[in-house]
Amino acid sequence: MLARVFAVSALLCASVFAAQYAEVVKPLYADATSGKVIGKLLPTAEVEVLKEEGNRVLVSISGYQDAGKPAIYFVAGKRILNAGFDGKAGVEFKKLGSVVVNGVTYDKVSATAWTDKSNLTSDVAPLYAKAKDLFSQNCSMCHGLHPEKEFSANQWPSMFKSMAGRTGIDKNDYQLVIEYLQKNAKDMQ
Ligand code: HEC
Repeated sequence: MLARVFAVSALLCASVFAAQYAEVVKPLYADATSGKVIGKLLPTAEVEVLKEEGNRVLVSISGYQDAGKPAIYFVAGKRILNAGFDGKAGVEFKKLGSVVVNGVTYDKVSATAWTDKSNLTSDVAPLYAKAKDLFSQNCSMCHGLHPEKEFSANQWPSMFKSMAGRTGIDKNDYQLVIEYLQKNAKDMQ
C-alpha cells in the first residue's frame, strides 16, 4: 500500500517536472520573443521546462561550472557541455552546492533561459542510439572502430573532429555524436 502511494506521488512529480532533452544544438534566448542569442544548449542535455509562452519555453539547465566560465557542464571536472553562454549576456548562475574533484572545487549551478519549443524530447534513448549508429557505421570504414572507451571525455571532441570530415556524418550531427562519445568515454562509469 505504502509502495503504491509512493509510486503514484512519484508519477505526479514526474509529470510536473518532466525532463526534456535537446535533440540538436539549440539557441538560447534571454526572453520569450527576442532574436538575440545568449547561448546554446547541446544535444542530449537535460532541461526542466518551467513555463511556456508562444513558441518558446523557459527552461532550467543545471550542472557544474568550471572556475566561473559561462558554461554548464554535465559532470564536475570534465568538459562535457550541457550549455554554453555568451559571457557578456549577464546570465545568472544560481549556486546549488559544490563538489571537490582531484583537489579542485566545482560549483553545482543552475541557470534559466528561453528556447524554441521545437527539437525537445522527453525520451533521450533514441538520441544516443542514433549517435551510436552514426559513430559505429561511419568510423569503421577505413580502420577498425576505435571504441568509446579508448579516449577520455576531454580527448574525444578533438579526436572526433579530426576524423569527422572524412566521414559522411552531417555537420548538424557532430555535437550529438561528441556528447555520446564523451558520456561513454573511458573516464565515465
Ligand atoms: C576515410 C577514412 C577514415 C574514416 C572514415 C575515419 N578514419 Fe580514423 N583514421 C584514418 C586514417 C588514414 C588514420 C591514420 C592516421 C591519419 O591519417 O591521421 C586514422 C586514424 C584514426 C585514429 C588514431 C589516431 C591516433 O592518433 O592514434 C583514431 C582514434 C581514429 N582514426 C578515429 C576515427 C573516428 C572516431 C572516425 C569517425 C568519426 C574515423 N576515425 C573515421 C582514416 C579514417
